[in-house]
Amino acid sequence: MTSDETTQIPPTMQAAVLRDHKTGLQIETLRTPRPKSGEVLIKVAACGLCHSDLHVIGGAIAFPLPAVLGHEVSGTIVELGPGNEHSGLEVGQSVAGGFLMPCGQCDACAAGRDELCGPFFELNRLKGLLYDGTTRLATTEGEPVAMYSMGGLAQYAVVPSTSVTPVPESIDMVPAAILGCAAMTAYGAVRRGADLRYGETVAVVATGGVGTNIVQVARAFGARQVIAIDVDDDKLAPMFDYGATAVVNSSTHDAREEVFRLTGGKGVDVSFEALGIPATWTTALDVLADGGRMVPIGLGAGVQTAGVEINRTVRRSQSILGSYGARTRQDLPAVVDLAAQGVINYRDVVSRRFPLQEARLGYEALHNREVQGRAVVDMSL
Ligand SMILES: NC(=O)c1ccc[n+]([C@@H]2O[C@H](COP(=O)([O-])OP(=O)(O)OC[C@H]3O[C@@H](n4cnc5c(N)ncnc54)[C@H](O)[C@@H]3O)[C@@H](O)[C@H]2O)c1
Ligand SMILES: [Zn+2]
Ligand SMILES: [Zn+2]
Repeated sequence: MTSDETTQIPPTMQAAVLRDHKTGLQIETLRTPRPKSGEVLIKVAACGLCHSDLHVIGGAIAFPLPAVLGHEVSGTIVELGPGNEHSGLEVGQSVAGGFLMPCGQCDACAAGRDELCGPFFELNRLKGLLYDGTTRLATTEGEPVAMYSMGGLAQYAVVPSTSVTPVPESIDMVPAAILGCAAMTAYGAVRRGADLRYGETVAVVATGGVGTNIVQVARAFGARQVIAIDVDDDKLAPMFDYGATAVVNSSTHDAREEVFRLTGGKGVDVSFEALGIPATWTTALDVLADGGRMVPIGLGAGVQTAGVEINRTVRRSQSILGSYGARTRQDLPAVVDLAAQGVINYRDVVSRRFPLQEARLGYEALHNREVQGRAVVDMSL
């Protein structure tokens, strides 16, 4: 890092701050964060708007306030903290940032199970902090501001270097924001949760930002059939372009009947649930074949339960395999590569772009189910 580059980092920045659930996101000036040991500072190019944020904005999932949300980012490294000598990261590199930020030191991380990292849950998800137990964000008066993952809805974000992956020049930086959550979560669900095998049959229940990516990753991993299920025909129509072999509107059709008809009376080997409500759990379990695996990735709005038919699950040897994010250090580079190779179509998934000042409008659109695929905040707008 040369002094020239350091001086290019302004002392303050704009960020979308959540102070209370009624008011929602408001643009504020914060101190530009600076990286500590094992962290990098990125100038954010874009940040995806994920349904998980809606739970936090609305207060259904508890999180300390004030906070900066935004956990799906792309950008350029502008500063390296100490302790990055062996990270291979450099100032000026374009990167994608994964929402699941492994500490790299706990037992789960040592076993390669980044998605189970203890400090990630205890410090970041519960307290909005990084792994030294402090936040990098503060107002100009010095009031601490919590970080949901890296706090990507801001012009700059500090990210642990475990959670950034360089992207090649061919990658389109604005839509690349979705790689770190929507695409990585889909990869984790297919590769880790389901451990999908070539020739298996698949259903994806709820084809929003994450579900769309599950459709394409499942097909890329050799699913023979991919049946997309949603309640909105507009969300279903483009699914054929992502590799779906059939679509079912579960509000106008009986999903179980349709899926059994499409699979020769068997049901699917793997069903993915990507919304997190009891109704989608029911659908995902109803379409399963004997011996099938149901992989839920949807997060409920707080503590929720779903009905599981006991005897069918037992007698038909069906499994429920929850899947959260992915193993960031191994899987985010694979996701970036799949995007660079054209296997994951990340560009078309991004259907709407908002300036940072209009982030709240983006979440309103998401809440009102008006977003096809993913919306992103584009920092250049
Ligand atoms: N496990 C993880 O690591 C992880 C990561 C990211 C997001 N999530 C969760 O995944 C879920 C999906 O996130 P997203 O950003 O893709 O959401 P989204 O808002 O983009 O998509 C939701 C989709 O659900 C559809 N839908 C609504 N009601 C339905 C119903 N009854 N049956 C079928 N489909 C229905 C909508 O039409 C829409 O297409 C959320 O719960 C989010 O919190 C989990
Ligand atoms: Zn997300
Ligand atoms: Zn860890």
